Amino acid sequence: MIKDSWQEKGYVDEPIPANIDIKAEIRRMCKEKNAVILAHYYTEGAVQDIADFVGDSLALAQWAAKTDADIIVMCGVHFMGETNKILCPDKKVLVLDLNAGCSLADSCNADDLKAFIEEHPDHKVVSYVNTTAAVKALTDVVVTSSNAKFIIDSFPQGEKIIFGPDKNLGGYINSVTGREMLLWNGGCHVHGQFSLPKILQLKADHPNAKILVHPECPAPIQKIADVIGSTAGLLKYSIENESTEFIVATESGILHEMQKACPQKTFIPAPPETTETVGCSCNECSFMKLNTLSKLYNTLKYEWPTVEVDPAISELAIRPINKMLEISKALKS
Ligand code: 13P
Ligand code: SF4
Repeated sequence: MIKDSWQEKGYVDEPIPANIDIKAEIRRMCKEKNAVILAHYYTEGAVQDIADFVGDSLALAQWAAKTDADIIVMCGVHFMGETNKILCPDKKVLVLDLNAGCSLADSCNADDLKAFIEEHPDHKVVSYVNTTAAVKALTDVVVTSSNAKFIIDSFPQGEKIIFGPDKNLGGYINSVTGREMLLWNGGCHVHGQFSLPKILQLKADHPNAKILVHPECPAPIQKIADVIGSTAGLLKYSIENESTEFIVATESGILHEMQKACPQKTFIPAPPETTETVGCSCNECSFMKLNTLSKLYNTLKYEWPTVEVDPAISELAIRPINKMLEISKALKS
């Protein structure tokens, strides 16, 4: 039974029984219910550590597409749960908190995008995975930061393209492909906050440090990067590169996996403009941080909140997602 108070809050807030080993209980429930836990790199370390799989947006979608579990528990944000539900309509897809949205996905409303597409009928529509199912339903191909360049390169030269909603990722792809895609004016509140002067000061203090930048960051931050990549791409670089210090300009949750993979290296989170504000952690995504171990326990126990996608929207949205997964097979090999 779903309580009104849960509906109102958007998550299950039952007290965790005393004297239980919460991690052992979570794993026990996963086994009993044939459930898998997927987590994005931006969730807190304890959530990443208990997950069956931790990855970037592309890897999470690829994993969901092939799992034979009956229940997928998506520790991340709502659009990730929607993507899983679209790929696996017959499975139960759970998220930990319905309030875990995404400022980037919110920056592109489906009705506004539809009007924009109607103004440019000769354009293909490429949407970043950080979008609602309704936006994906208007899209020709979905991309993530891991495969965006590869997928855009797969379009014939001269193809007219609308790219949304992230203007920074779109600008980056334009710069590396020489295209002139029409960019939607959207962005992520976390990646838009990094301070160029503070990063430059850090670099002056740590001259040997490599600067790792996610393409959702604005162009001036991209310009000083040693490498620009998805969370998985930045993690790989930090493992493979011989440097011992890294300044990391993306959501700070990724430092958990970096530090785990390379305990002998130093990872410094790039500072946002507002670090002077007491209590502010502006390089943290407040939506991702809504994923906690206690919510994970309750979500698994009560099998709520579920993610539902209107079947008519899902039928349209699965095509551009599958197209992305299909094209990305060549990227892997
Ligand atoms: P990636 O993990 O695909 O790089 O995406 C970053 C992000 O903002 C997820 O919300
Ligand atoms: Fe969305 Fe930005 Fe949070 Fe990623 S970091 S989930 S893009 S708000």
